[in-house]
Amino acid sequence: MKQALKNSLRYLGYEIHWVGSVPDVPADPVRVVGPPALEPVWPLPRRPGGLTDQEIREAFGRYELWHYGYEFEGGLSFQPSHLRPDSVSEDPSRPLKRFRHFMPYVLEAAGSLKGKRVLDIACNSGFWSIQCGLLGAEVVGFDARPVLIEQAELVRSIVGLDNVEFRLLDFDRMAPGILGQFDIVLNLGVLYHLPDTLAALQSTIAMSREWVLLHSTLWPASEPVIHIRWEEPIDIRDASTPGIVAYPSKSAVELILRHIRVKEARAIPLHVPGMPHDYQDGSRASWLIRV
Ligand SMILES: C[S@@+](CC[C@H](N)C(=O)[O-])C[C@H]1O[C@@H](n2cnc3c(N)ncnc32)[C@H](O)[C@@H]1O
Repeated sequence: MKQALKNSLRYLGYEIHWVGSVPDVPADPVRVVGPPALEPVWPLPRRPGGLTDQEIREAFGRYELWHYGYEFEGGLSFQPSHLRPDSVSEDPSRPLKRFRHFMPYVLEAAGSLKGKRVLDIACNSGFWSIQCGLLGAEVVGFDARPVLIEQAELVRSIVGLDNVEFRLLDFDRMAPGILGQFDIVLNLGVLYHLPDTLAALQSTIAMSREWVLLHSTLWPASEPVIHIRWEEPIDIRDASTPGIVAYPSKSAVELILRHIRVKEARAIPLHVPGMPHDYQDGSRASWLIRV
């Protein structure tokens, strides 16, 4: 029967080949010798005497969209919610996995975050700023969307951190003259929402005295190319204004970093088991850069 079906399909010009089962989740990375593991502070602590459970629920409920899910001590948890939901961005463990992926390398480089100035570019609702604040850094996080700065302030007030400051600012206006310089600059998930990769990396490097953690979605090509496309500012994770955005390939990022003459750019290897697909398939990459 099977052979008859194969023969009929071949007659129609089709071939069936058994390719084996494709695993749902790609194989986990080979064990990499790297810095010691580091866990995010999760669930987030709550300032004693702060908002009640009911007040926190009401405050979160005022916003329809949340890029990250949040968990707070006492069993309060909130799911991420996007306009274009997909299983990748709706996974509440995504930021925690990303933390385990990046932050051991940052801590290994910087020694400790205590008292260090950290800039969180495009901070969204503040996940990274809050984590760095809990590790003792003096943090400035900025984003171009007022609603995200409100959300970040809400999370900051629940946790009760006074070493974290959020500002409404567009990437175009970021400059040492406005924000000062920082020991560590986080440029995470925003490069491919900007129109000019070279200019964006130059201004990011200019903000740092020592380290930049860079993470971007990439254009899938082995040559150094930059693909442009139009982006509308629809969701809270998109570009802040309509216009072209640039997707560099991995080798384009590396060539640009060489052109800018950074001292060192180390690609962070996959070392955390169970990382999301887009990290495993190479459509995203991260670098720890010494400026
Ligand atoms: C995909 S999210 C990344 C959030 C966070 N940095 C992370 O990696 O988890 C992109 C963020 O960039 C912000 N953004 C987009 N264009 C921006 C601009 N021109 N200036 C400042 N922030 C911008 C968005 O509002 C959004 O919060």
